[in-house]
Amino acid sequence: MGSLMREAAVDIRYWLERAVAAVEEWAAEYGPYQLHPSLSVSDEEFAEAFAALTGRLHDNYPFFHPRYAGQMLKPPHPAAVVGYVTTMLINPNNHALDGGPATAQMEKEVITDLARMFGFATHMGHLTSSGTIANLEALFVARETHPDLGVAYSADAHYTHARMCQLLRMPGFVVPVNGQGRMDLAACEDLLRTGKVGTVVLAGRRCRGSALGYPEDSSSRPGRAGPRAPRH
Ligand SMILES: Cc1ncc(COP(=O)(O)O)c(C=O)c1O
Repeated sequence: MGSLMREAAVDIRYWLERAVAAVEEWAAEYGPYQLHPSLSVSDEEFAEAFAALTGRLHDNYPFFHPRYAGQMLKPPHPAAVVGYVTTMLINPNNHALDGGPATAQMEKEVITDLARMFGFATHMGHLTSSGTIANLEALFVARETHPDLGVAYSADAHYTHARMCQLLRMPGFVVPVNGQGRMDLAACEDLLRTGKVGTVVLAGRRCRGSALGYPEDSSSRPGRAGPRAPRH
């Protein structure tokens, strides 16, 4: 991994030093100050904690390795790590535009980029700290826009859809999947015809690369022909 890090286009060692210097330079504009004694940790103490951490981190799967394909996880690119560490040295709060003006603006830009990636010209959104919360918020919108209707999700969908439906007290309907992990569109169509479903979520399965896997020629593609329902 060491050599991989070195070979990466961004030299993480160089840029992490630059990150600390850049934030220190910015902080110096606010004048000198004394750190609270509770923050003082000796190098010896920290070395012990650091050794314990790095030792325990060996109990991990080699997510970084090209031959590891157990999950979609990969370590972020060194450029992203440097960006994260740099920003963490400030730790701004994005709860409102005035909580962390720079990063709140960046959040808006990221949302615009994501919307563009999915082909949405007009959009409204924000970053969340987890997939669970993203699903909860999306299903909340589904409930508010389609009150009294339920949600259809594939049998292979992440368990949060069923759980969040329970939390929001919305009926959830499981749709069977085919051999590729894609939602059985005929079964989905039958379900939509009952008039009980307002939203269809997770028609495919990202682990198998089959998310959004509607065959283009399918007449039963939800939201296209046949019974309509928004998709999340
Ligand atoms: C589709 C989907 N929803 C929800 C989650 C849960 O995300 P988190 O653990 O960030 O809450 C995952 C996590 O893998 C996911 O893939």
